[in-house]
Amino acid sequence: MSEKVFRVSQAYRCVAPAASGMAPRRMFKAAAVLITLGYCSLLVYQGGVTFNFQESRAGSVQVSDLSIEPVRTTVYDSVHKNITLDDIFISVKTSKHYQYSRLPIILKTWFQLAKDQTWFFTDTDNPQHQRQTNGHMVNTNCSDSHQRKHLCCKTSVEYDHFLESGKKWFCHFDDDNYVNVPRLVTVLQKYNHQEDWYLGRPSVNKPLHIYNKPTEKLLFAFWFATGGAGFCISRSLALKMLPVASGGRFISVCEGIRLPDDVSMGFIIEHLMKKNLTLVPEFHSHLEQMKLLPMETFRDQISFSYSGPKDKMNVINVPGFDTRYDPTRFLSLHCFLFPHFKFCPR
Ligand SMILES: *[C@@H]1O[C@H](CO)[C@@H](O)[C@H](O)[C@H]1NC(C)=O
Ligand SMILES: *[C@@H]1O[C@H](CO)[C@@H](O)[C@H](O)[C@H]1NC(C)=O
Ligand SMILES: *[C@@H]1O[C@H](CO)[C@@H](O)[C@H](O)[C@H]1NC(C)=O
Repeated sequence: MSEKVFRVSQAYRCVAPAASGMAPRRMFKAAAVLITLGYCSLLVYQGGVTFNFQESRAGSVQVSDLSIEPVRTTVYDSVHKNITLDDIFISVKTSKHYQYSRLPIILKTWFQLAKDQTWFFTDTDNPQHQRQTNGHMVNTNCSDSHQRKHLCCKTSVEYDHFLESGKKWFCHFDDDNYVNVPRLVTVLQKYNHQEDWYLGRPSVNKPLHIYNKPTEKLLFAFWFATGGAGFCISRSLALKMLPVASGGRFISVCEGIRLPDDVSMGFIIEHLMKKNLTLVPEFHSHLEQMKLLPMETFRDQISFSYSGPKDKMNVINVPGFDTRYDPTRFLSLHCFLFPHFKFCPR
């Protein structure tokens, strides 16, 4: 529960450091952040014309490689074929610390329903997992630490891989998420990928406010979708973010505003792109109380999560396997949704 709150309050502190007793160095840092914020905004307001795309790091996406589709009207959409699972790029952020705990649960359950569409972004090479996923483990070469910079590094690589994939939707999840694959597809069918969509669920009930501390003036406020619940971005929107986020630039934004990866995503989309987050309540993170999700609604949910046992245990309430065998409840959930799987009791 406290993780996001901590992260948010930390963000406040970093962006708007306490003025009293602040060391000159911190004061300078704060000024630098504000300048960066202004700088980011300026770049976008100028239409991004100052960006030099040739400068992007080796192996990154070049603008000329991307098929930028014209925005069409909804008339087109009504005759356009419905999107399928194959139009979705599902990315899962993981790390070597969880390769033998969290990852095997995903590989055994929902990954089996989206093998060709799901990619894992990690920080290690594991030949066994590479075989099991048919080469879908991406070693981001980012550090395995849980620091903001390194989490942002992975998100940046996820986003770049999505751009290269040519798919219509980018959906990010964490390695403690269970993704209800058929539901993800039907929910996305309600939205047009040729329009700008940022779909997810915030973990706080008001937007994040960024203040200019010395004057207490509200600079701006924005919503962000909690990364731990998963979120989706349409291709149209992802392409518009290209000048500020592609080719590793996402990391610079994170560092510039000193906010976590999911908050930085919200900052880019809501503040810089001026596109609003659309609340999709079917995304769930462990910042919610999992046991409050009624079983009758499981089929309608897009994502689930868990925490524990190191932190307080927070899992969905679902009948099935013994909790010693299935402490996260994801195996039981999977059998609840898809009882035909071999490992499910019958
Ligand atoms: C796509 O299919 C869903 C149901 O599966 C339907 O509700 C939706 O209207 C369809 N969208 C289009 C554009 O045909
Ligand atoms: C990580 O480094 C390896 C070896 O240098 C390289 O082959 C690979 O492409 C890099 N991965 C990414 C995502 O840049
Ligand atoms: C986006 O959200 C802001 C405030 O949260 C609201 O004022 C604005 O009208 C919204 N824009 C759209 C296009 O819905």
